Amino acid sequence: MADGKDTARKDWSANQYLKFEKQRTRPARDLLAQVPLDQPPRRVLDVGCGPGNSTEILREQYPAAAIEGIDSSPDMIAKAGKRLPDIPFSVVDLRTYSPKEPQDLIFSNAVLHWLRADERIPTMRRMVEWLRPGGVLAIQVPDNYLEKSHAAMRAVAEEGPWAPVLGPLKPALDPFESPQELYDGLIPLCSAVDIWHTFYQHPLEDHQGVVEWVKGTGLRPFLDPLGPEDRVAFEKEYLEKLKGLYPVSVDGKVLLRYPRLFLVAVRA
Ligand SMILES: C[S@@+](CC[C@H](N)C(=O)[O-])C[C@H]1O[C@@H](n2cnc3c(N)ncnc32)[C@H](O)[C@@H]1O
Repeated sequence: MADGKDTARKDWSANQYLKFEKQRTRPARDLLAQVPLDQPPRRVLDVGCGPGNSTEILREQYPAAAIEGIDSSPDMIAKAGKRLPDIPFSVVDLRTYSPKEPQDLIFSNAVLHWLRADERIPTMRRMVEWLRPGGVLAIQVPDNYLEKSHAAMRAVAEEGPWAPVLGPLKPALDPFESPQELYDGLIPLCSAVDIWHTFYQHPLEDHQGVVEWVKGTGLRPFLDPLGPEDRVAFEKEYLEKLKGLYPVSVDGKVLLRYPRLFLVAVRA
């Protein structure tokens, strides 16, 4: 991608992402619990496997399966390879990838929202075509474009001295497609498409905890293009805005509401 959503422009930090590993892996477990396979899969592909946290739960659930992981980030793949040395991981962009063999399960946790809106449904349709008939595509994405945490990032981007730099880059991820658009896009290839939302409520240490959370993901495209001083100033303004938006709980923590969209499709 040639715009501000090019996730390869600056590499991910696996360490920053893993600061909230437990909370970030829970939706992967919730997604896996809904995979409607009658028998254990033989071939499983973890698309956008990140540091291997989602791959690890696939390995726990399906110890006999041939599991592979792909991700466009070298830092993430290096971490995943250290974590699960017996699993083949490759640095590859899912938009140009095709597996050699038909898959029984394609799992993709917290990845597809990084694509531009016009790429997502065509990519998901291609992913369905990587499956054998009866195979399952299981997807989860944050659905938080309208959340206070994300609206505040966009507001800070528009208000600060960095606006001329960030404006043309359009650093915000596109809002995710609606359940109706997803259903209509996939059902022609599938025997069933199951879509649901879950709202997680994460108690974080304080407002800085919210900053740390999004620094591992959605805030990256806002901070990465800035120089060191602007980056610090942006973070500071963002933190101040969050303080006005999220109350402090009785125990001093801040509840971060985090809506996530789940989709499980069975190839016809
Ligand atoms: C939020 S992490 C998810 C990691 C892991 N699946 C999990 O469950 O926590 C998103 C991952 O998607 C990867 N990614 C984003 N765009 C990608 C693309 N076009 N092709 C392959 N991987 C991509 C990123 O490199 C990153 O590791």
